Amino acid sequence: MTHKIALNFEDGVTRFIDAAIGETVADAAYRQGINVPLDCRDGACGACKCFAESGRYDLGEEYIEDALSEAEAEQGYVLTCQMRAESDCVVRVPAASDICKTQQANYQAAISNVRQLSESTIALSIKGEALNQLAFLPGQYVNLQVPGSDQTRAYSFSSLQKDGEVSFLIRNVPGGLMSSFLTNLAKAGDSVNLAGPLGAFYLREIKRPLLLLAGGTGLAPFTAMLEKIAEQGSEHPLHLIYGVTHDHDLVEMEKLEAFAARIPNFSYSACVASPDSAYPQKGYVTQHIEPKHLNDGEVDIYLCGPPPMVEAVSGFIREQGLEPANFYYEKFAASA
Ligand SMILES: Cc1cc2nc3c(=O)[nH]c(=O)nc-3n(C[C@H](O)[C@H](O)[C@H](O)COP(=O)(O)OP(=O)(O)OC[C@H]3O[C@@H](n4cnc5c(N)ncnc54)[C@H](O)[C@@H]3O)c2cc1C
Ligand code: FES
Repeated sequence: MTHKIALNFEDGVTRFIDAAIGETVADAAYRQGINVPLDCRDGACGACKCFAESGRYDLGEEYIEDALSEAEAEQGYVLTCQMRAESDCVVRVPAASDICKTQQANYQAAISNVRQLSESTIALSIKGEALNQLAFLPGQYVNLQVPGSDQTRAYSFSSLQKDGEVSFLIRNVPGGLMSSFLTNLAKAGDSVNLAGPLGAFYLREIKRPLLLLAGGTGLAPFTAMLEKIAEQGSEHPLHLIYGVTHDHDLVEMEKLEAFAARIPNFSYSACVASPDSAYPQKGYVTQHIEPKHLNDGEVDIYLCGPPPMVEAVSGFIREQGLEPANFYYEKFAASA
């Protein structure tokens, strides 16, 4: 039996390794060709200190206080030369991937489905034998090469990987390179290259209520997270507020309804900003955040969408004068 360890490097690259029972994380990484920072291997120098984001593990007993203090261990720091995983874990490595002699992985796949959900939004699925090996944390993204060009665009996974298939939710930017390819040319069977996974915006262990705030296709990482939560369950309440500009931007509502039926603690609402909207709930996501969603600050907030929306919502949260326990965000910045 092995446990999966996600190693998140400083440059946003994530690599997954398998750690055998009783094997240290550092030994498992080196065995799989990833040279995480390491010196004494003895729990004495602290060179291998990393931060365990989630999972259960044995810290080991052979290290000294100079290498890892009690306070650091309590916060979640670990020495990978001593740490032995007791479940799947996520470990943040304070070094760039190339320093550790690794890099993002490249995959080839083919379009399995491309569909215009509305004039502004495209659903894309890709599939391939190689993608059976693609592991990522729900919330992360990959760089997709625009077929027929040397350009790449970043897209968050909107699903988990199942049978070598993953999906994306993509805004149709008029005149955009990827947008034009997807709306005019793309068809099932077209070859696609991708590199990743990447990013620090991913679902952490759920230790308190979650408030999920999505703007437009910023919904994508949340549908991946909700798929994971539906599989593992959550004892804490989860509330999603999904805001868009126009009625036709409002997509995947059936999917959200299905999550609400599958996840007992999950609720959601949607709103449309345009004054011309026929949708009953109007305005911006910030107008739909209620005090109970902020839970006096005992809440983890995840926010994703176009940069102006992320900035406006971040400003609103700051103005409330309360510090959420954790605040994670992803801006869908334009590559150009
Ligand atoms: C980490 C990350 C994750 C992302 N995930 C997603 C995702 O899941 N879904 C998704 O739809 N997008 C996502 N994006 C945005 C995506 O990478 C592209 O920028 C977007 O799809 C436009 O690509 P394009 O080739 O169609 O347009 P481009 O050829 O890149 O742009 C054409 C023109 O439109 C402008 N433009 C581009 N994007 C926008 C925009 N959003 N608003 C206004 N003007 C714009 C550009 O400046 C340029 O002038 C993500 C971005 C990042 C950084
Ligand atoms: S390598 Fe020295 S403490 Fe781990």
